[in-house]
Amino acid sequence: MNTYVITGATGHTGKPTTLGLLEKGHRVRIISRSPEKSRELVDRGAELFLGDTRDQSLLERALSGADAIYVVLPMDARAPDYTARQVQDATAIANAIRRTGTKYAVSLSSIGAHLPAGTGVVVGLHRMECLLNAIDGLNARHLRATYFMENTLGQAQSIRLTGAMGSPVRGSAKLPMVAAGDVAAAALGNLLALDFEGKSYEYVLGERDLAFNEVAAIYGKAIGKPDLKYVDIPYEQFERDMVGMGLGASMVSKLLEFSIAVNEGKAQGFYTRTPESTTATSIEAFAQTFRRVYDGDGVRS
Ligand SMILES: NC(=O)c1ccc[n+]([C@@H]2O[C@H](COP(=O)([O-])OP(=O)(O)OC[C@H]3O[C@@H](n4cnc5c(N)ncnc54)[C@H](OP(=O)(O)O)[C@@H]3O)[C@@H](O)[C@H]2O)c1
Repeated sequence: MNTYVITGATGHTGKPTTLGLLEKGHRVRIISRSPEKSRELVDRGAELFLGDTRDQSLLERALSGADAIYVVLPMDARAPDYTARQVQDATAIANAIRRTGTKYAVSLSSIGAHLPAGTGVVVGLHRMECLLNAIDGLNARHLRATYFMENTLGQAQSIRLTGAMGSPVRGSAKLPMVAAGDVAAAALGNLLALDFEGKSYEYVLGERDLAFNEVAAIYGKAIGKPDLKYVDIPYEQFERDMVGMGLGASMVSKLLEFSIAVNEGKAQGFYTRTPESTTATSIEAFAQTFRRVYDGDGVRS
């Protein structure tokens, strides 16, 4: 039996990863700010360390005697400086790993993390990789996941309000898209095996590359709106709308910078799709989740 520390444990990838480890009989310590969100995991046997990933002493207590950690940086929508917040979390985690001598880390990174700048929300993930790679004796595997299909669930509301899908990513730009469950499966596989040595990365690219125009056609069919269109939202309008919805200006500018990096093909292209980086869930399968959210009988995640 191994002991694991899971950050982001109540989130898209941390939760299924935690459940998978518990099912295999491992000891799992979870970091969460919320006893309520953690309840199901605690009921299944996880041990809650209450707090967030900026708290180095909490992390050190959780990591004491642990075999491995799953590193997920939070997306703090209200952070005054989004990247600085990512670096703050990554620094606390890296310091705690170094101080406790933890031997294995699987991190949730992203396509585009090979670049030190110009990728918005991903810049902090590049910095996280660097911080973990600087730890002597740590075996680190960075999962460079692509755009989550779950990100599109917010489009259900946009369709209700405007009749169309849209974002600043051009409808014709090709982008791999992955279901978060498939990313969790990659994290779980690495955590169970602990068979990686030194510092490495692995791409998690979903079933195929897609353009949002195709996604709109597939979702439109699933929700009974076969004419559903995708609209390229002008950059300034996106910034105005997102800030108007309550997101912090820093995060909005980083989301926009990432969208521009996708439009320019900078975030994609460093990798080559392989059978290993290709995962199972198709956008057609995920369209059923989208339909449930659109119909109002699915949980918006
Ligand atoms: N979405 C994508 O397309 C994509 C693609 C590649 C990589 N990524 C990266 O994946 C990571 C997110 O992974 P995920 O989707 O598995 O996690 P997630 O569902 O976004 O969230 C994980 C946990 O972070 C905690 N959290 C949220 N806001 C916080 C805040 N302001 N301060 C402290 N903690 C906070 C929450 O835990 P508690 O409430 O329990 O504390 C939440 O359950 C990010 O680093 C993102 O950049 C995302």
